[in-house]
Order: sequence, then C-alpha cells, then structure tokens
Amino acid sequence: MRHFLDIADISASDLKAILADARAMKMARSGLPKGASDPQEALPGRALAMIFEKSSTRTRVSFDMAIRQLGGSSLVLNAADMQLGRGESIPDTARVLSRFVDAVMIRANAHDDVTEFAHHADVPVINGLTDRSHPCQIVADLMTLQEHFGALEGLTLAWVGDGNNVATSFIHAAPKLGFSLNLGCPDGYTPHEDDLAYATNSGGKVELTRDPKAAVKDADVVIADTFISMGDKDADARLKDLAPYSVSENLMAQAKSGAVFLHCLPAHRGEEVAAAVIDGPQSLVFDEAENRLHAQKAILKWCLVQ
Ligand code: CP
Ligand code: NVA
Repeated sequence: MRHFLDIADISASDLKAILADARAMKMARSGLPKGASDPQEALPGRALAMIFEKSSTRTRVSFDMAIRQLGGSSLVLNAADMQLGRGESIPDTARVLSRFVDAVMIRANAHDDVTEFAHHADVPVINGLTDRSHPCQIVADLMTLQEHFGALEGLTLAWVGDGNNVATSFIHAAPKLGFSLNLGCPDGYTPHEDDLAYATNSGGKVELTRDPKAAVKDADVVIADTFISMGDKDADARLKDLAPYSVSENLMAQAKSGAVFLHCLPAHRGEEVAAAVIDGPQSLVFDEAENRLHAQKAILKWCLVQ
C-alpha cells in the first residue's frame, strides 16, 4: 500500500512519473467543463475522505474536483465535528475510516498524527499539509516550473523567508529532481537540520544563507510563503523578523531577468510579497494554484492504481 506522506519517501522515478501523469491528464481534458469527468476515468467508484484540522481553500477544492474528474467521490470532514475532536483515538479513527473509504487525505496540526494515522490505516493516506511539510503543494509547484521552463534539471530555485512546511517539501524534492535550492532565511527561521542533512546526504544542491539578496542572485525562480503559518503564535515577532525577507520588486530584480515568482497562497500583499510582484508578469501563482488539481489527480492515482 502506498501512502503519500512526504516527498522524501517517494522515489525520484515515482516523483517524475507523478509529474508526467499530472501534465498528461491536464492536457487530455483541455477544453472540457471543469465538472466533466476525464476522458478516461481512472478511479471509478473510489471514495476519498478528507479530514481538516486547519482551514483550506485550494487543497479542499482541488482534491474534491480531482476525485470527481477521476470518477470517484469525496467526503469533507471537519476534525472538530468528528469524535476525533472529542478524544477518539487516531488508531481507531484510521481503522474505522478504512472500512468506509478507499483513501484518506489529512490536513493536520501535528505531522506525527498523520504518520500515526497512516500506520493504522488499511487504505492510502495523503498528507494535505502538516506543521512539518506540504508535499502535495510541491508536486503542483514543480509541475508549474516544468510547464514554464520545460525541465527542472539545472534550475536554481530561491526560497525567501520562513523555512517552513512548504520549504521543507522543496528541500525533500531537491535531491530527486536535479534543481539547486537556495534558502534565504533569518536566524531562528531555518528549516530543520535533519531535513537539510537529508537533502545534502542524498546529493541535493541546497544552500542556506541569511542574506535574501544572495539567495535570489541568479535564481530562475523566487518563492515566498506567508510569514505566519497556520498554528504560529508569535505573529508580531514573525512580521518584524521576516520583514527584510519580503519579495519586493527590488529583490526580484536581483534574480535572473526571466525569473518567475511562486507562492502557494494564501498571500499577504505588503508582507511576504509586494503586490507588484505577485500580480505582475513574472508571477505564476494562479497556474500554480490550478495545478494543484492536476497534481492531486496524479497523487491519487499513484496511491490507488498499481
Ligand atoms: N496552498 C494551499 O494549500 O492552500 P489552502 O490552504 O487553501 O489549501
Ligand atoms: N505555510 C502555510 C501554507 C499554507 C498553504 C501554512 O502552513 O499556513
């Protein structure tokens, strides 16, 4: 059984196959109404449960539309409304849901809760974001870069700001797909040591700097995310500490002239990114958001069709 919990756990060849499948499915349904099924329904009759402990727009809607276009159906479950929210155990919840649905996607506060759920589930479990990582997002992001640049090998990506869950999934992907990753993060906001060690020990080209200008110098891609992730408590300190890492037009100009901008959204214009950048010609953020749909479909198929 295949769980999709972290990019680090997926082989390079499987990750490349997921990306290729996502792009092929996107092209195959070009021009169809969004609610129409794919020309070839890959998952007829399959049911996906989605458990949310945190808010979501893109993950929720893209997974819902993804399973529908593949011929299946979904259930959206707010964790607070489940017995889980009253203390029913994760193992019991995993075993019970495994009797009702064919796969479970979870957006959770604690990463360990998702791995525990997967350990006890009899069906594939997908990480829909935790405090630690956001692997589904990175599949959409890498797909967007493949569409734009043709290939990922040899590109330089610059992550600027908080070394958070989304940054961690980029770190996991770097050794698998041959791009270089520059992380520009202030002291106290660097990604986990073990994730950085994983990437470098696996042959990834990952560099960490405190200087946002050094991070974006000669980059093909500049990436930002919110300074205050869901669950972060120290909002005032974060805004102050991370303000020098905002992607302004000036910072963007330090990257290559053809550089593009990515952001997983939701965005905060005037905080982590200037409106002129995210709404400007270098921004790919809405292609990136759309590609969540195509990426989720390829992830669901990877989990359910072998
Ligand atoms: N990027 C992303 O995961 O968006 P949502 O929080 O809206 O799902
Ligand atoms: N880092 C953000 C991503 C939101 C999609 C968060 O965890 O809130």
